[in-house]
Amino acid sequence: MKIFIDSANIDDIQEAFSWGIVEGVTTNPTLIKKAVEYFKKKGTSFTMEEYIFRLLETAGFGHPVSLEVVGTTYEEMLREARILFEKFNGIKENVVIKIPVNPEVSEDGGGHFNGLKVIKKLAEENIPVNCTLVMAPNQALLSAKAGARYVSPFAGRIDDYLRVRAGIPFKKEDYYPVEGLTINNIVLNDDGIVSGVDLVQNIKEIFENYYFDTEIIAASVRNARQVRELAQVGADIATIPFEVIKQMVQHYKTFEGMENFISDTISEYRDIFK
Ligand code: E4P
Repeated sequence: MKIFIDSANIDDIQEAFSWGIVEGVTTNPTLIKKAVEYFKKKGTSFTMEEYIFRLLETAGFGHPVSLEVVGTTYEEMLREARILFEKFNGIKENVVIKIPVNPEVSEDGGGHFNGLKVIKKLAEENIPVNCTLVMAPNQALLSAKAGARYVSPFAGRIDDYLRVRAGIPFKKEDYYPVEGLTINNIVLNDDGIVSGVDLVQNIKEIFENYYFDTEIIAASVRNARQVRELAQVGADIATIPFEVIKQMVQHYKTFEGMENFISDTISEYRDIFK
């Protein structure tokens, strides 16, 4: 499983890439907003174009960086996707355009298929798409059929949704059981999906049945245990917040072991390194 960093904060992205285990970046409008607020507080000024230049350079060749459109109609999304790709892909050839699977905000709106239509068009133009806001296996199936290079199921947000509907209080970083939560003998589920990791597993199974090339980016990741479970079900990629990547390398017994090794090191052994 590849690891991407789910962030638009260049300080964090640079640091994470320096660890040698990160292979891509995903951003969204909320992450861009957070990053810009962070740099404004630090007194750093830049144009959005300069900022994206730096972001793409930091990731470098071969490390995809997802940039999201903000329009909701077919025309707007297509125009924005082309602008993002034309403006920025020349820098390191690593731009991927994020398109929502369904940009409609209401059930009775008429634009439910605009996302898929744009994905199809961009695929014909060889512009790679990361289909975002995927909350159900059927959405992933449709976006793969439309030609998305990646699909991003939002694992954590499904866990949130199941708990909110059941009235269960939780903190964002809380663990949610992969096999679901049983309340009054019923496993909480959303149309049969019992957890975010289960969502990813279902998509994986469907893609394998039909040999789709579309890669699954497990998104909306909340904690290190969830990352392990995403790897177990075979997510191609997990896009992980900076703080969660840091959690992944830590263990109390590792710290304790290091303390012991350091205090047990005899001077004769240390002298070898002089
Ligand atoms: C990444 O592609 C998604 O935009 C991101 O993982 C969403 O995460 P959140 O649910 O923590 O906002």
